[in-house]
Amino acid sequence: MTTPEPDGGRAAALRVKLADELEASGDLRTEPWRATIETVPREAFIPSFFERIDTPQQTMWRPITPELVSQQARLELTYTDETWVTQLDHHTWPVDTAVPIPGEPTSSSTLPGLVVRMLEELQVEDGSRVLEIGTGTGYSSALMSARLGAELVTSVEVDAEVAVRAKEALAAIGFMPDLVTGDGLLGYQPGALYDRVIATCSVRHVPKTWVNQTRPGGLILTTMLGWLDASSGLVRLEVTGDGTAEGAFLGGTESFMPARPHAAPRLGDDVYTWIDEVETTERATAAGPEILDPWDGWTSMFIAQLAVPDSQLLIYGVDGGPVIEHIIDVNQHAIAILRKLPDDSTVVRQAGPVALWDSVEAAISEWRNAGSPPLEQFRISVTPEAQTVWFGDPVGPLSWKLPTNTQ
Ligand SMILES: C[S@@+](CC[C@H](N)C(=O)[O-])C[C@H]1O[C@@H](n2cnc3c(N)ncnc32)[C@H](O)[C@@H]1O
Repeated sequence: MTTPEPDGGRAAALRVKLADELEASGDLRTEPWRATIETVPREAFIPSFFERIDTPQQTMWRPITPELVSQQARLELTYTDETWVTQLDHHTWPVDTAVPIPGEPTSSSTLPGLVVRMLEELQVEDGSRVLEIGTGTGYSSALMSARLGAELVTSVEVDAEVAVRAKEALAAIGFMPDLVTGDGLLGYQPGALYDRVIATCSVRHVPKTWVNQTRPGGLILTTMLGWLDASSGLVRLEVTGDGTAEGAFLGGTESFMPARPHAAPRLGDDVYTWIDEVETTERATAAGPEILDPWDGWTSMFIAQLAVPDSQLLIYGVDGGPVIEHIIDVNQHAIAILRKLPDDSTVVRQAGPVALWDSVEAAISEWRNAGSPPLEQFRISVTPEAQTVWFGDPVGPLSWKLPTNTQ
């Protein structure tokens, strides 16, 4: 690897400082990964990026580019433990604007603490062949190439322009892993079997291809997301052969952007019209909207997502009134609308062929009866027929089938 040092060694010092911080936080645990953090230049992968600015109205993205920000200031930001967004809305890059703009992040360099935590959790050994899903900027591919040798690393990126940029950045520092442009949910059969699969985008279920392309005894590390949109869980599965795998949630509140085909569908304006007009039945509920607050109830939010896996969460006020939680399953034309009353009790209005909030309430009640176990005590089982997330007993009351109707 060639390390450009246009800054007289300042970047090298910042890498050592970052490694110290990541070791202190517990994300960085072993010497070989420390060596990679100390040598791989993150600035080669994020010459430009967006800085998040939260305003009361909306989130804006400020471009940090060589034209707008000094090299020294960019370098300092590069070596903070932050995620730096590199693409908005699938087509906008930092150099496309001189002023802050709104947008939806669609590619990024994940915060180094999470990258290295995942690499530690991947439990690679010398000689491990790794398949990465979500090349992004190429920084994590570079860390793996430095640790294992680029010839053992395959990385798949769905966005062609992102993939080209990653390839150039990797080549500029002398790494040539096998870079594939395509849908990583299909894995990459020509490189199989792999010892490890790692995804830096989130999935609703574990793609069969990953299980089939991993050798028995190999590991798959990924975050699982739900469509209520905030709570996700990092899981590590061991492949047991014949299309089966099993593993545990590892704890933490890490989240990644969804793998493109696994993202919740965008809701059209017709949905809001339907919400305004639909006839609902109202009742009191003991399960209030706090169970859907990711910061209050990371696990309860995850349980709710398991109970109504095709539902999305919309939070907004009506006619200047208080903010209200709407849970909506567009495919089934079902909705549950939660409203807090002045005495702090909650009422729910429901409509549709399934009572969404009844399902959430029942799941939360079972979870509370079991002592409200945290997500890291849950497991996941994958067979060719079904995927189940469970606590205690894979067919017990705290077990849910994941939606596997997409790739
Ligand atoms: C958080 S970024 C990856 C960060 C990256 N590992 C790094 O270190 O810079 C997630 C990436 O996953 C990509 N992605 C999303 N869905 C994908 C899919 N189905 N297959 C492959 N890549 C996907 C996105 O385009 C994005 O570049």
